[in-house]
Amino acid sequence: MPISFMAGNWKMSTTVAEARSLAEAVADRVGSSTEVTTVLCPPFVSLTAVAEAVSGSSITVGAQNMHPAASGAFTGEISAPMLAEMCSHVIIGHSERRALFSETDEFVNEKVLAAFESGLTPILCVGEQLDDREAGRADQVVEAQVRGGLAGVESPGSLVVAYEPVWAIGAGRAATPETAQQIMTHIRSVLASIFGDEPASSVPLPYGGSANPGNIEGFMAQPDINGALVGGAALDAYSFCQMVEIASQAG
Ligand code: PGA
Repeated sequence: MPISFMAGNWKMSTTVAEARSLAEAVADRVGSSTEVTTVLCPPFVSLTAVAEAVSGSSITVGAQNMHPAASGAFTGEISAPMLAEMCSHVIIGHSERRALFSETDEFVNEKVLAAFESGLTPILCVGEQLDDREAGRADQVVEAQVRGGLAGVESPGSLVVAYEPVWAIGAGRAATPETAQQIMTHIRSVLASIFGDEPASSVPLPYGGSANPGNIEGFMAQPDINGALVGGAALDAYSFCQMVEIASQAG
């Protein structure tokens, strides 16, 4: 598996028909590229359509959320064993879930453990708010999210950790590559303190927050940034594929 990693987080933006055609367009253009792990994360209802659209290509599919319980009376929720039948990855702890659905590090941690148990690759999202950054505690906040989210995880396995500063998400204003690198080198060292240097060095660390074809090269040039978790720009097949191509050359 390459460490370069590019995922599209389509959020609640595509109908099934739109998801299928977006996935087909991405698979057509970058579906034979193997230098970058490329993951499309559509809404739950489109997982099957997207999996069909990318089948036979190098592109993989991820969900945007899951519930930590394997099954039970949780109306409206989706579990890891259900997802494991249709996709390989799952985004966990996205800042929108933390802010809009009150998800805590403890709940995020339960999901990470449940994802691993079902053989899914968790894409654990961490990132500070603007006031944390302004108060000089970005490192501290992100470290607590990483440690909290990974409590009880013994080996990183296929783990991916996305650094997404909340103030850059959907803002049209990304962090600078240097700012992102500064936090991501800290994330790498926290991972090393948990898992050891060697395992930590192979955990893909994508940046997220207004990543686009114009700034991806700068992020990829940083030693601890291995790709991007892309929201808005991933809804345009041309832009997303350009980003995958740039990452392939840089990785
Ligand atoms: P954005 O979203 O690229 O639109 O800023 C990134 C994300 O929320 O994962």
